[in-house]
Amino acid sequence: MAELLTNPRELLAARLRQMLWIELQLSEDVLPQLREQAHAPDLQWAFERHILETEGHVEAVREVLRDLEAPADPEESPAFEGLVAEHEQLVKQVFEDGHLLSDLAHAQAALATEHLEMAGYQSLASLAETLGEETIGIRLRELMEQEELALEQVERATAKLLAEKVESERL
Ligand SMILES: [Fe+2]
Repeated sequence: MAELLTNPRELLAARLRQMLWIELQLSEDVLPQLREQAHAPDLQWAFERHILETEGHVEAVREVLRDLEAPADPEESPAFEGLVAEHEQLVKQVFEDGHLLSDLAHAQAALATEHLEMAGYQSLASLAETLGEETIGIRLRELMEQEELALEQVERATAKLLAEKVESERL
């Protein structure tokens, strides 16, 4: 079992260690896999771009933990594990000739992850600011904004994919 938390700063650090674990899973495993599985070039590009960004997030979260003088060992996030399991289940249910539904399933997984990360950084930024850690709050909000941009890119890629499908069926 993870260590006991006895004050708000320790709780902030523990949640940051979970965010670190999520970012590591994403950059080393999940996003490279999604990039390989995706067929739509826009979606592949969105995943590729976010891999590089996510590597930056790993470093940013490590720095924040260093500034808090807290341990920086990643801590598993059951919420993220759940999203990965949900994606695997959805992909198994897909039955189609082309790649549209599987691409949509990959996009859904990416969007759900972005929302999880945004919720994490938003709530941790507020907690850090409440604890008087203004600079850390600003850095966490910057990470949240990057997640939001990544989310918008996946949404745009999804919209384009569906628009192309509608267009091709009209021909
Ligand atoms: Fe991230």
